[in-house]
Amino acid sequence: MNLKDKIEKLKKEKNFVILAHYYVDASVQEVADFVGDSYFLSKKATQIDAENILLCGVSFMAESAKILNPEKNVYMADDSADCPMAHMIDVDKIEEIKKQYDDVCVVCYVNSTAEIKAHSDVCVTSSNAVRVVKAVKEKRIFFVPDNNLGRYVASKLPEKEFIFHDGFCHVHTSINKEELIKAKNALPHAKVLTHPECRQDIIELSDFVGSTSEIIDYASKSDANAFIICTEIGVFYELGKKNPQKKFYSVGHRQFCPNMKKITADKVLEVLENGAEPIIVDEEIAEKARVSLNRMLELAK
Ligand code: 13P
Ligand code: SF4
Repeated sequence: MNLKDKIEKLKKEKNFVILAHYYVDASVQEVADFVGDSYFLSKKATQIDAENILLCGVSFMAESAKILNPEKNVYMADDSADCPMAHMIDVDKIEEIKKQYDDVCVVCYVNSTAEIKAHSDVCVTSSNAVRVVKAVKEKRIFFVPDNNLGRYVASKLPEKEFIFHDGFCHVHTSINKEELIKAKNALPHAKVLTHPECRQDIIELSDFVGSTSEIIDYASKSDANAFIICTEIGVFYELGKKNPQKKFYSVGHRQFCPNMKKITADKVLEVLENGAEPIIVDEEIAEKARVSLNRMLELAK
């Protein structure tokens, strides 16, 4: 039996559903039941019947799945897969800003720890951030941890007043303007599709800005047949699958998230065969973080 068939068999026998993010390796996306962006994965996590969820992505995704599903067992194929940006803000900073401004709404990108979510008013993902921030009643927003996403959201909502933090994604900020200009010159008919974690100079050169799912949807619906993709290379698998006749190009060689790539199909099989430690989130933290996540799911509808 090949690896894929073994995984299929065990996940049915052991009542597992596999959720995967578009940045994990193609071989993992192939064995997943559902693949999507962070918003899709958090919504999907609330609709799972199976007793066990194997989350193929980084730890904040598994934590969110557990927080939204306290009664399910949530596992990761490699629990050292962690997003560095999630640790770029601490509770003290949030409390300092709350003390300074009593009218502030703390908006936290899901790429953050459960503890940060617990100290925030509402969560957002890249695909719903503009919608959710627009919907909160407060004018003053403290956006954490991603500076680039915060600035992108602010550019769409001039009626709000933003305080930014200095977190960033090392993968997206490594995409540089000179290389993008070179790629555009080499491919003058290609559309540039960009994730909002990229720097502003990249966003300004783009035809479309959106989450991983939104980039895939845009490319699939577009009449263009060449695209320069400014996000992690994992999305190329779904882009190619949905659009075999279209061409997709990266910018330089750094669009690679080493943490997402820790998740391999072999490790997925290992968890299904031999089990693993389930994800545990402190109950008090989980209860508060659930409020911020549920508020996002409500406002993003
Ligand atoms: P989305 O899939 O929500 O666009 O998220 C990007 C990301 O960086 C996840 O780590
Ligand atoms: Fe974190 Fe960036 Fe990797 Fe996403 S791509 S998990 S934001 S380091």
